[in-house]
Amino acid sequence: MSAEKPLLLEARKLTKTFPAERSMFGFGPKVEPAPVLHGVSLAMDHGEVTGLIGESGSGKTTFGKCLLRIVEPDGGSVSLNGEDWLSVPADQLQKARSKYQMIYQNPYACLNPGLTVRTHLRETLSVFHGIRGVEADERIESELARFGMVAKASSYPGELSGGEKRRISVARTLLTSPSLVVADEPTSGLDASVKADVLDRMLDVRDAATAYLFISHDLDVVRFVSDRILVMYRGRIVEVMEKDSIDPALAHHPYTERLFEAARADIPTEEESRVMAEVQEASLDLSRGCPYRGLCQVWHARGRPDDACAQELPNLVRMGSDQQVACHVLSEGAGQQPGASEDCFNIESPPSGS
Ligand SMILES: Nc1ncnc2c1ncn2[C@@H]1O[C@H](COP(=O)(O)OP(=O)(O)OP(=O)(O)O)[C@@H](O)[C@H]1O
Ligand code: SF4
Ligand SMILES: [Mg+2]
Repeated sequence: MSAEKPLLLEARKLTKTFPAERSMFGFGPKVEPAPVLHGVSLAMDHGEVTGLIGESGSGKTTFGKCLLRIVEPDGGSVSLNGEDWLSVPADQLQKARSKYQMIYQNPYACLNPGLTVRTHLRETLSVFHGIRGVEADERIESELARFGMVAKASSYPGELSGGEKRRISVARTLLTSPSLVVADEPTSGLDASVKADVLDRMLDVRDAATAYLFISHDLDVVRFVSDRILVMYRGRIVEVMEKDSIDPALAHHPYTERLFEAARADIPTEEESRVMAEVQEASLDLSRGCPYRGLCQVWHARGRPDDACAQELPNLVRMGSDQQVACHVLSEGAGQQPGASEDCFNIESPPSGS
């Protein structure tokens, strides 16, 4: 009997802290670097789409880059198709990465300013599939047509708009027939009809068993494409929703509620809420307790008590079969014990204080 096929991706407890930046001329107080990822885990199977949402600076891009080793994680493990990905020697990484691709948030990052659109796509087909000549050109024409970009085949990146560059970077990635794509804001800045075309094409490829980690600020798009959504707050996953529980009318983590409200434009912008958080957190010791409590409407409404919210880092806890939440109040309300998250492999939190 053949062995069971391994999961496409099993990442456990990834951590990342970037080195502190030196202040100008070396003056000023020494700032300790803050961890960007606090032990983020994720399991994904072939062809699945996992959405990842969270406000700016929460660590979404860093997590995606750590999964693919575009940025090296400091700790944790990553297995891709059963292979210990963090043990692949650096000089073999480029080749090994051919099946695991990133659509960069900044599409400039992957386009060579000296190559035309057509040359980019020809190189991709040649390197990844050995397809050249007439066959390559036919595939390129049809790919460009799907993205409404035929007229731009001879253009250089500097002659393209931001949205056109984004479309080319998506087209190029999909031409490689990847198993896993970390798609970082792939539809940002695209107008509605182009966005729909790009999503259609991505989902076509998904049917051919490409899995996506789909990072986006656009909740409607994430809900449309994802089988499951992860919510990240300051480098921790605070909620996981399977597709059927993705519903603003259900009980969610207070931070998820706030993201839903922000999408309906009911609350302040991210910049305003960052300022609010700084003010509210000034008197809080966030080295313990729930990192979200500075902004948490539930804890503030209770009068900021010295309770579990103030003392213990909440772990992800199952709330029924379709949802996991890292919130003391929600898990108590559902009769769950804190720390009952051992079975929640794909979204474990680290123990308090890590
Ligand atoms: N190479 C780097 N060196 C130092 N700090 C970095 C680096 N990359 C990211 N950071 C910091 O890590 C934190 C998380 O950044 P990240 O880009 O992962 O956030 P994000 O959730 O993707 O945000 P956005 O929604 O704005 O894209 C930020 O504070 C950012 O400044
Ligand atoms: S654990 Fe407490 S502070 Fe944190 S989100 Fe839940 S209610 Fe708010
Ligand atoms: Mg980002």
